[in-house]
Amino acid sequence: MSRVGGLERLDVRVAEKAYPSATGAPVVVLRELSFGLNAGEVGALVGPSGCGKSTLLRLIAGLDVEFSGAITRPARGRLGMVFQEPRLLPWRSVIDNLRIAAPKADGAALDALLDAFHLTAHRDHYPGELSGGLARRVALARAFAVEPELLLLDEPFVSLDAALATRLRAELIAMVERSPVTTLLVTHDLDEAIMLADRLILLSGQPARVAADIAIREKRGDRSPALIAEIRARALARIGD
Ligand SMILES: Nc1ncnc2c1ncn2[C@@H]1O[C@H](COP(=O)(O)OP(=O)(O)OP(=O)(O)O)[C@@H](O)[C@H]1O
Ligand SMILES: [Mg+2]
Repeated sequence: MSRVGGLERLDVRVAEKAYPSATGAPVVVLRELSFGLNAGEVGALVGPSGCGKSTLLRLIAGLDVEFSGAITRPARGRLGMVFQEPRLLPWRSVIDNLRIAAPKADGAALDALLDAFHLTAHRDHYPGELSGGLARRVALARAFAVEPELLLLDEPFVSLDAALATRLRAELIAMVERSPVTTLLVTHDLDEAIMLADRLILLSGQPARVAADIAIREKRGDRSPALIAEIRARALARIGD
């Protein structure tokens, strides 16, 4: 697959993003926040709760255009997104949730995705019949079903048991290595970010800005506990700056 070159780069430059508050005065959530991801790169956006990570993902997805600055998405622009809540269509079965998101995908490809996320037994279930973890897996499968050029994942592994989260992280790694896609993953979990990402983008402050942007050059499979600990220490020192 030749998803290289400038086409699939993501460039984010938010001069300011504010929300109106109850008192009427705007609250600035993001200010002078810039970073970019190269084609096929996996970036992890890490920051404290409420700092503006989901806000930033919505801006990048184009779901909220009320901000100043400029965001350049991959040119061909198919977007796969996992929201912080799974947001499945409740009156459609699992397979239909995938089909509706990806009407051009062939049946075999969707079946392979269900298999990859261990969802085959739940193919014809409705979202109301699924546990939280199953619903999250469906949301992940749906994001991949569109064969995205840009993948935005908002805490996709939160509140899953440790074994399932580990399995799904491995599945995500396998998928992005098999078919590279420019990916931005939001997480609170610094170790998760270090395991998965090529780049750590650490947010801090109010309004949030990029406190550190750290490249991880070692291959995902070669990251030892010692290396992860070293990168974690480096990242924490930078957040504290
Ligand atoms: N629609 C909105 N109107 C007003 N304020 C909002 C709105 N959405 C988010 N906020 C505020 O903007 C700030 C950032 O929210 P956001 O959901 O982006 O944070 P987050 O980093 O994703 O948090 P978490 O890690 O808890 O998911 C918060 O203070 C939140 O209360
Ligand atoms: Mg959030």
